[in-house]
Amino acid sequence: MDTATTSTLSSTRSIERIVQGVATSDGAGVSLTRVLTGKLQRRLDPFLMLDAFGSDDPDEYIAGFPEHPHRGFETITYMLHGRMRHRDSAGHEGLLENGGMQWMIAGRGAIHSEIPEQEEGLMEGFQLWLNLPTANKMAAPWYKDFPTSEIPEYRTPDGVTVRVIAGSSNGVAGAMTREVTEPLYLDIHLPAGANFATAIPSTHNAFIYVYRGAVQVGDTRVEVQRMGILANSPGADGLALTASEDARLILVAGKPLNEPIVQYGPFVMNTQEEIHQALDDYRNGRFA
Ligand code: CO
Repeated sequence: MDTATTSTLSSTRSIERIVQGVATSDGAGVSLTRVLTGKLQRRLDPFLMLDAFGSDDPDEYIAGFPEHPHRGFETITYMLHGRMRHRDSAGHEGLLENGGMQWMIAGRGAIHSEIPEQEEGLMEGFQLWLNLPTANKMAAPWYKDFPTSEIPEYRTPDGVTVRVIAGSSNGVAGAMTREVTEPLYLDIHLPAGANFATAIPSTHNAFIYVYRGAVQVGDTRVEVQRMGILANSPGADGLALTASEDARLILVAGKPLNEPIVQYGPFVMNTQEEIHQALDDYRNGRFA
């Protein structure tokens, strides 16, 4: 593991708003918390959705996500605990497990399934949807599995461990780099009392989601299972926080596209006509 000293920021972003996710169910009956919902798509452009799943009750996850399509965006599935088998219409297959990540660019269309490969124990992780710019919505689909060993990590002198899923943080490049939206995606583990800071481009929309413990950002405490939307404060060059207790959180940031967002379930395009086209293409087998 690399070691890195954390950035010295001239000014940290503050928390603009705390969001509590909505309990829902998706796929064939998987219980999850929708943290980033449709209402926040404009505020958190280029991110379209964040689902947090976490249960040790197999009834809440066993049925998984049978075959379904996507068009017009990217999905990033980060598995903290558990095993999930992925298959898609292009003949790809992979196993996502403990600490691994799968990045899929659905582009013009992918049909896939995500089915748990465990009958008991904890299944926990996140699925994040990242929008594609207009010019790339109909690009060829692509995906890659990153086992946990292929996700770069670093440790700070304060004992903070950071897993760099995308973008770069404190000089450490992540598993994925994307143009246009330039996503930053970190999984940060802090012992109680530790401080942490990382740069975030001032152009980016950004949020944190705390999944263990609690953290303090300026005057605001962000509790477990809460999202904190970071203010786009002029002049703020990153995020500094302190762990109120042992804490784990994800930090997600990206450059907004400022393009129209029209969503119909698993299709996210720029116009209603493109949604009709997506439905027509899917129904007529033009996705595979
Ligand atoms: Co899917």
